[in-house]
Amino acid sequence: MNESNINVTSPLIPPLEEYIPYLEDIWKRKWLTNNGHYHQELEGELCKYLKIPHISLFSNGTLALITALQALRITGEVITTPYSFVATTHSLWWNNIKPVFVDIDPVSLNLDPDKIEAAITPQTTAIMPVHVYGTPCNVKRIESIAETYGLKVIYDAAHAFAVEQDGVSVLNYGDLSILSFHATKTYSTIEGGAIICHTPEMKQRIDYLKNFGFEDEVTVVAPGINAKMNELQSAFGLLSLKYIDGAIEKRKAIDALYRSGLSSIPGIRTLTEMPGVKANYSYFPIFIEKEKYGMTRDQTYEMLKSRHIYARRYFYPLISDFPTYRALPSAARSNLPVSAQAADQVICLPLHAELSETDVQRILDALKSR
Ligand SMILES: Cc1ncc(COP(=O)(O)O)c(C=O)c1O
Repeated sequence: MNESNINVTSPLIPPLEEYIPYLEDIWKRKWLTNNGHYHQELEGELCKYLKIPHISLFSNGTLALITALQALRITGEVITTPYSFVATTHSLWWNNIKPVFVDIDPVSLNLDPDKIEAAITPQTTAIMPVHVYGTPCNVKRIESIAETYGLKVIYDAAHAFAVEQDGVSVLNYGDLSILSFHATKTYSTIEGGAIICHTPEMKQRIDYLKNFGFEDEVTVVAPGINAKMNELQSAFGLLSLKYIDGAIEKRKAIDALYRSGLSSIPGIRTLTEMPGVKANYSYFPIFIEKEKYGMTRDQTYEMLKSRHIYARRYFYPLISDFPTYRALPSAARSNLPVSAQAADQVICLPLHAELSETDVQRILDALKSR
């Protein structure tokens, strides 16, 4: 029998018939972009849904990151994690900022606060941590280090849509946070992203920056970029908000199936669930310990692929191993042992709202049959 493909993710797409009236309305209004009706409505709805004070929508998460650095006028060196998607560090490079890699904590896989201070130099102006897989960083420790040394904090919260710690959105920490609404994310606007900030003044500055710096028809207040979200994306996002809670519930159920099914397999470890965290179940990373499991992570990846199960090696290679960054002193593997081990051991299993129990069972059976 030919087994069907199981992909690592599948986009959350609202019913077409519900999207069509939005399209008809956009056609009628003839306002396709530039802070249109649906753009404004989505910003308002997201503030309510995410429990955040201000949000500025972007055409993607990478431009949101690049613009966030511009908004805070960050220069010099920025401390960041190598265990993320390349866009985190690329945003620094595009701003002519030197990334300084600091190792991660073995439990959360986020930037290790104990190692940040040693990496601070007179050139350091900010910290850019990532809530990787949606697990909150140690925001209190990072805040206290940033305060002591007068540094800004920009969270790459691309994975952390709707994640809360003790009832507070993680997006409220740091000077700015950015989200990605890429099609592969739990919540999507096809392509898209956002910056979350604390004051109307900062929101205003970000809004200017994402629209070439225009304040009005004839006034350009800053060297801005074009990073605006259009009306089709905004309407898609607005409609998807109706379905996001259901999608997260389904992901949660799959997470539970994985956790109970995997607990009996020696050599496979799951990510620790953090107390007080309302998760979004974006990813299901597992650690493969080759001595106990009998296969390396890469062999496991190939074995699953041969059974048409497409898991992904997020995050491998480490960002610090890419040619652009590997000559940096902080990119040395000896400086990043925990990140290096995670990059060698972790694989993300398929996880999305349409994955069936039968699919999950097929994945568990494959992992058990090594
Ligand atoms: C951690 C992280 N940062 C930034 C991005 C970039 O977001 P986008 O793809 O929306 O540009 C992504 C995802 O794609 C990501 O996973």
